[in-house]
Amino acid sequence: MILFSLFTFAIFWNLLILNKESKCIQSTSSAVVHQTSINSIARQQTRIVDRFRFNRGSLINVGFQLAQNSCTYIAMHDVDLLPLNDQLSYEFPYNGPFHVSSPSLHPNYHYKTYVGGIMLISNEHFKLVNGFSNNYFGWGLEDDEFYARLMEANLKIYRPENIQTNQSNTFAHIHDRNVYKRDTAKLFNQKEVTRKRDRKTGLNTTKFNLLNIYHMSIENIEFRIFNVAIECNVDRTPWCLKQPSSSSSSSIKFKNQLQQQPQLNH
Ligand SMILES: *[C@@H]1O[C@H](CO)[C@@H](O)[C@H](O)[C@H]1NC(C)=O
Ligand SMILES: *[C@@H]1O[C@H](CO)[C@@H](O)[C@H](O)[C@H]1NC(C)=O
Repeated sequence: MILFSLFTFAIFWNLLILNKESKCIQSTSSAVVHQTSINSIARQQTRIVDRFRFNRGSLINVGFQLAQNSCTYIAMHDVDLLPLNDQLSYEFPYNGPFHVSSPSLHPNYHYKTYVGGIMLISNEHFKLVNGFSNNYFGWGLEDDEFYARLMEANLKIYRPENIQTNQSNTFAHIHDRNVYKRDTAKLFNQKEVTRKRDRKTGLNTTKFNLLNIYHMSIENIEFRIFNVAIECNVDRTPWCLKQPSSSSSSSIKFKNQLQQQPQLNH
């Protein structure tokens, strides 16, 4: 199999907020509308993404690699989900991964195994599960595969308790689907491959180029913005390209390999 390592020239944004208590809040987006820290809301508009499609899992892995020496745990934080209730804890997840935007509180996602949106996880546990799969270009499913990783590592997921608000007023979900369209296309054999547990890629296989670092501060909250270009092996994951390319023969080989992997167990 030929390895292509194509880097991008335009920009993925990976937004990281650091505070003094050794915690990192990290949000990722290809079209950042808002980002939040615990007590303040900052707004940031992005530029365009490159020839590869958005990859939330890889961007979280990259953010972790860049952050892990300055924090003990991370908050993976969707940029379009703003916490409205001060009762929500962002403290160190002593017991295990802490899913802040639980199915009982998230405005849209109510299935039991949902772990997307906002999750706090210690560096130790993130490394234990080898972070996220890098295979998920486009919108969706990377969090469900992450759930399978947590289960396989026997990590129990903790969620907020005794919260006085509900699905309609715990979070502001600010995402205008018409303005910021989700990239939901399933290209090549993406659909079947990404329905399966990925045991090949993760935190330790994420490769990227760090293009710029911006140090910024809004209302005394310091944060950094990293512009990174992630790598895509178009032989293994041809669906990272926006348009099907001509390398379909190698993608068929890839398909046969991955079909031997078991189903996601949920
Ligand atoms: C990455 O970690 C996994 C275990 O989570 C291991 O099986 C794999 O060999 C590692 N890959 C590399 C390239 O280090
Ligand atoms: C959520 O809480 C608000 C404020 O207490 C209340 O008005 C609303 O009816 C509740 N919604 C649901 C679905 O329970």
